Amino acid sequence: MRIVVIGFGTVGQALAEILARKKREILRNYGFEPSVVAAVDSVGAAMDSHGLDIERLIRLKKSGRSLADYPGGGRKGVTGMDVIEDVDADTVIEATPTRVEDGEPGLSHIEAALRRKRHVVATNKGPLAIALPALMELAEYRNVALRFSGTVGAGTPVLGFGKKCLLGDKVMSIRGILNGTSNYILTRMSEGGVALGEALKEAQNAGYAEADPTYDIEGIDTACKLVIMANWVMGRNVTIKDVHVNGITGVTQDDATRARSEGKTIKLPGTIGEEISVAPTVINADHPLAVGGALNAVSFNAEYAGEVTVVGKGAGGIETAGAVLRDLIDIRRTAVAVQWG
Ligand SMILES: NC(=O)c1ccc[n+]([C@@H]2O[C@H](COP(=O)([O-])OP(=O)(O)OC[C@H]3O[C@@H](n4cnc5c(N)ncnc54)[C@H](OP(=O)(O)O)[C@@H]3O)[C@@H](O)[C@H]2O)c1
Repeated sequence: MRIVVIGFGTVGQALAEILARKKREILRNYGFEPSVVAAVDSVGAAMDSHGLDIERLIRLKKSGRSLADYPGGGRKGVTGMDVIEDVDADTVIEATPTRVEDGEPGLSHIEAALRRKRHVVATNKGPLAIALPALMELAEYRNVALRFSGTVGAGTPVLGFGKKCLLGDKVMSIRGILNGTSNYILTRMSEGGVALGEALKEAQNAGYAEADPTYDIEGIDTACKLVIMANWVMGRNVTIKDVHVNGITGVTQDDATRARSEGKTIKLPGTIGEEISVAPTVINADHPLAVGGALNAVSFNAEYAGEVTVVGKGAGGIETAGAVLRDLIDIRRTAVAVQWG
């Protein structure tokens, strides 16, 4: 499997590391050998049709340099779009930063890769929140796979659970705590009695929150994940415009303390029912969704199985890279099935 990695930060590097370390195991257990033939960052690209030296790539990035400095195959100014056009590969990993305003640069990368008949694995939610129905259609039309397991729950297999484990069942509604940062803040407000601003600073110091936490605390990150689940698990045809979004900025410490005194807690669940919405909600402290800290929890309400809740870490480079590996194995199996079918 000839792989291009676009975006070589926390997730891209963790993935490259896994692929290098587990190369033999992947070949033995899943029958394919992954080879990273190009990797791209914001400055340029590293390319080698025989496969890049992953350790060298990671050393470059850890020393604060660009992939463009890769000895022999580094090219300054070469973009993700250039690589999709020019490099012979069968799978593109899209792991550039999320922008919900226009989905770029990921949206162009995914579209171009699908048009060039490349399988795509995305960890970037932005393009999917804006255009998932159209992208799924494009992938089907081009007879290639589009997968994005890491976009919801990072390594926790939320999408796989809803799509594959509940096969034959009908998921009627989904409700989930999908954003670790806002959940950490609400947990600290409730249990530690701290104000929102202070809890946010703690989350930033602990590495949970981004320098710009707008997407997290305004509910936008949760809304993106709802769009992905609604399309993928429930077969809806929606984008972020269809989600009613309310974040946690209006929640006060008094609200949190009052809820706690009544044996309840304030959370920021995202819900896919008749409507799709994100809003701060008071729930019982012993509810399955009342998870603490930066955890994620997603409850599926299925026709036969009833309510089933999946709980796990919702972020992390290595966790998300593990989800990408699952997708690659899934693609390999699907591609083989298509070939033989
Ligand atoms: N980290 C997580 O826990 C996690 C979990 C689930 C999903 N995700 C999603 O996965 C994606 C990647 O996350 P991350 O944590 O790896 O982000 P990150 O550490 O900020 O890395 C982003 C990478 O993208 C590169 N980049 C930026 N603009 C680019 C462009 N125009 N063309 C090519 N490369 C470009 C950056 O280049 P430079 O190195 O030159 O800056 C960097 O290598 C994001 O969309 C994120 O929301 C992350």
